[in-house]
Amino acid sequence: MTTMQAAPTGPIFDKGLANTIAAETQMSFIDGGKGVLEYVGIDIDALARNSTYEETVYLLWNCRLPKQHELDALKSALQAEYEIPDAIYDMIKSFPRDAVPMHALRTLVSALALHDADAESSETTPSGIESAKRQALRLVAKTPTLIANFDRHRAGKPFVRPDKSFDIATNFLWMLNGEKPTEAMARGLDICLILHADHGLNASTFAARVTIATLSDMYSAMTTAVGTLKGPLHGGANEEVMIMLDEIGSMENVEPFVKGKLERKELIMGFGHRVYKAYDPRATYLKTFAKQIATDTGNLRLFEMSQKIEGIVLAAKADKGIFPNVDFYSATTYHCLGIKTDLFTCMFAMSRMSGWAGHCIEQLQDNRLIRPQAKYNGPHAAPYVAMAQR
Ligand SMILES: CC(C)(COP(=O)(O)OP(=O)(O)OC[C@H]1O[C@@H](n2cnc3c(N)ncnc32)[C@H](O)[C@@H]1OP(=O)(O)O)[C@@H](O)C(=O)NCCC(=O)NCCS
Repeated sequence: MTTMQAAPTGPIFDKGLANTIAAETQMSFIDGGKGVLEYVGIDIDALARNSTYEETVYLLWNCRLPKQHELDALKSALQAEYEIPDAIYDMIKSFPRDAVPMHALRTLVSALALHDADAESSETTPSGIESAKRQALRLVAKTPTLIANFDRHRAGKPFVRPDKSFDIATNFLWMLNGEKPTEAMARGLDICLILHADHGLNASTFAARVTIATLSDMYSAMTTAVGTLKGPLHGGANEEVMIMLDEIGSMENVEPFVKGKLERKELIMGFGHRVYKAYDPRATYLKTFAKQIATDTGNLRLFEMSQKIEGIVLAAKADKGIFPNVDFYSATTYHCLGIKTDLFTCMFAMSRMSGWAGHCIEQLQDNRLIRPQAKYNGPHAAPYVAMAQR
């Protein structure tokens, strides 16, 4: 009698892990082919139009929308954690004024652990999860204070302490500029924070999960994530978009610049995505919003240049699934909010901190060390050659 042999199983080589599902999440769902992004089942467009960043954080961390008293409690808990220790302000003062902002942020996020008694290591027990949640709340609340006050330091301006009566977006712009923003400006930032909060198992989120899965602490995981986000193929792209817009400089220059890049097979920053092969759903609303804020702040030319770039790239590349991603129109939006170009990736980190932390809590709730294998391509049975004979 013959028996059916099971197909041999074992590790497969998947460069870039594009075809590997390495974790489970209840936070965000992406259909890259159709251009869909949902947080806990709610379309990103509906959240951008109707929600706030704080409500979105509640949604991601609790997998449901909050009732009013629950939202109020989260807001108060965050506000109570806005302030950073004096030692961290002193540390910021010691940074070179020309430090790369993401280097500064990565260092400061790491340093916060020195002042948090919860930040030893992680446990998967209920009390360990509660500790991770406390760390997550502090990280989300304090990150805007770190970024804004680093920016003030490098501009030679005095620190501005957080104002606990403000929401996160208003508080950030208050600290950054030393004056209360208009409602429209604060809302603009709030929308960007919602849109960037979570995005499946992107590179920085994966990095955070790898770190927490070793039962390291939240601060280590967030430090890993900030470092990973920094790269131009990930969070750094929004800065590159603004640099490109500055380089192009005028409407007349758009066509020769973009066509030249396409002919030379160079990347156009803010286009393409590993997962989306349709229009990035975060870019859809952001485009409308960018037009509005560009008009309001006298920067319409920037928006029109972006639109022209989009038209040329889509004509050449839409059939290959190359569309604008979230970074493309966030560049114009951040610029119109008065945020310096080299701070854009920090803005992304400020928002994604909630997604990273949420993923780390999910990881702890069902933990297994993340440890893929490498395909060895080197020699075998090689002799050890003594130094004198090499
Ligand atoms: C995001 C990104 C890394 C995705 O990379 P990926 O999934 O590995 O996609 P690939 O590199 O396989 O690209 C497929 C094809 O589209 C082209 N392409 C991808 N992004 C492009 C872009 N921004 N501009 C021009 N062509 C692009 C590639 O050159 C490749 O062409 P080929 O088939 O002729 O070689 C890539 O699109 C990119 O570098 N974009 C610019 C940076 C950016 O905006 N990043 C932010 C992401 S949110």
